[in-house]
This record gives sequence, C-alpha cells and structure tokens, in this order.
Amino acid sequence: MTRALVFDSGVGGLTIADELRKAAPDWIVDYAADSGFFPYGVKADAELRERLPGLCATLVDVAKPDVLVIACNTASTLSIDDIRAQVKVPVVGTVPAIKPAAEQTKTGVIGILATPGTVRRAYLDELERQFAAGKTVIRRGTAGLVDMAERAVRGQPIDQEQVAYAVRPMFDPPDGPRIDIVVLACTHFPLIRDAIAAACPPGVRLIDTGEAVARQAIRVAPKTPRPAGSAIAYVTGGAANKAAMTPAFARFGYDVIEIIDV
Ligand code: DGL
Repeated sequence: MTRALVFDSGVGGLTIADELRKAAPDWIVDYAADSGFFPYGVKADAELRERLPGLCATLVDVAKPDVLVIACNTASTLSIDDIRAQVKVPVVGTVPAIKPAAEQTKTGVIGILATPGTVRRAYLDELERQFAAGKTVIRRGTAGLVDMAERAVRGQPIDQEQVAYAVRPMFDPPDGPRIDIVVLACTHFPLIRDAIAAACPPGVRLIDTGEAVARQAIRVAPKTPRPAGSAIAYVTGGAANKAAMTPAFARFGYDVIEIIDV
C-alpha cells in the first residue's frame, strides 16, 4: 500500500487528491492544507519561497508519505526545486497544462486562468517558449475565483456575476474572442468548473492537470509495502482553521483532521 501526501494552500488540492484516489484506489491519500498562510496567489514570491521548503519538509516528517504531490500551481511554479532539495521522497508538481492546450487548440489562441502569482512566473514564460511557440497565450490572474472555490466547497452558493467579472477580461484583448481552450491553472478552479464554463463564450473548452498529476505520482512513487491505515487531513493555522476546513474535508472523505503548528 502506497501512502501519498497531497499539499495545497487550501481546498484546491482536493481536486488532485480525488483524481489520485480514482487512479490508485488502493493508495492512502493524505492531504495537507496550509490554511494558516492561505491564499498563496497574492503573496510576494519571497514570502512563499521562504515558507514552502521548510513547511513541506515538516509535513513529510509528520505524514511520512512515499510521494509528495504539490497540488498547487502557485507553489509549484515558484518553489518546486527548493522543495525537492529539502525532502527525501519524490515530489510531483502541478503546472499549467500549456502543452496539451497548445496541441489541441484549433484557433491558435489559448487562455490561462490562474492566480495573480502564477501568471507572472518566469516558469510560465518557459512553458510557453517550449510548448506554445507560434500560439497566442492570454493570461488572466484572479484571486477572486480562489475565494469563491473555498466558499463553494463548504456549501455556500456561487455568485455567477462575480465569476463572470473574474473571467470575462480574458476575452477582452484583440485575440481574446478566438480563445477556444482555457487552462484551469489553479487547482481551486475545477471545484467551480461549471460556473467558470458558464462565464466563458459558448464552445470554449476547459482543461486541467488533475489526471496528469495523478498519473505522474503513480509513475514515480516507490513500490514500498506499507500497512493499511486511514487517510489523514493536516491543516495549519490552529483550531479555527481546522473548524473552517472540516466541511470541505468531510465532503472529500477526510474524517481524521490534525493540526500542524508551522
Ligand atoms: N490552489 C493554488 C494553485 O493551484 C492557489 C490558491 C491560492 O491562491 O492559495 O495555484
């Protein structure tokens, strides 16, 4: 039995944990939310750089996974190398699905919907250079959709007008109306996929990285025999955050929740 730890700033990584459980039903998939430091998407790069490697090392010490999945584009595109240098297990990152989008676009125009942090990353420039040469890529950074996803997963209603306000500017530039594929480049966004789709012009297709990340985790995880056990959700930020996260964790099947002091 393999044990994975899926990590995000909040509830977004639950979409990746879900894909991983579907692809590897016999695995124990633990989860960690850095709710005490949420949201990542509006934080300065330096702050995240300072926090992420140490936090991940602590999480790996506590959860003892066979593989660590960074289920966060904002963190992966900034700190994946620093995290790898700090932990002894294989680390799988989550980065915007620019390659499949570039392969599948018919109009040659792709939209990238992500956090404000992810859209300004040099990592994204490099992905575009490698995989989307000759295509037009329009980036849209939004923190609002992250908050909406956090609320939606706790059962609160989604305000479709606010979703449209966050999404529509992606289609405003001269090539915007030709976007035929939108990359959901934040793991929170699949939680409100239908609302985002409804805010896009008809015919636009949304793609994300959930399945690909799950496949990669299965590929790199060492095949160590492990005793069975139940999955644990870890949360930072103390008892208040634990209480706030409990409904979201319960919805994704996590009943055992532990507070991590980092
Ligand atoms: N879920 C994270 C991502 O994939 C970011 C959310 C946040 O801003 O904390 O980028």
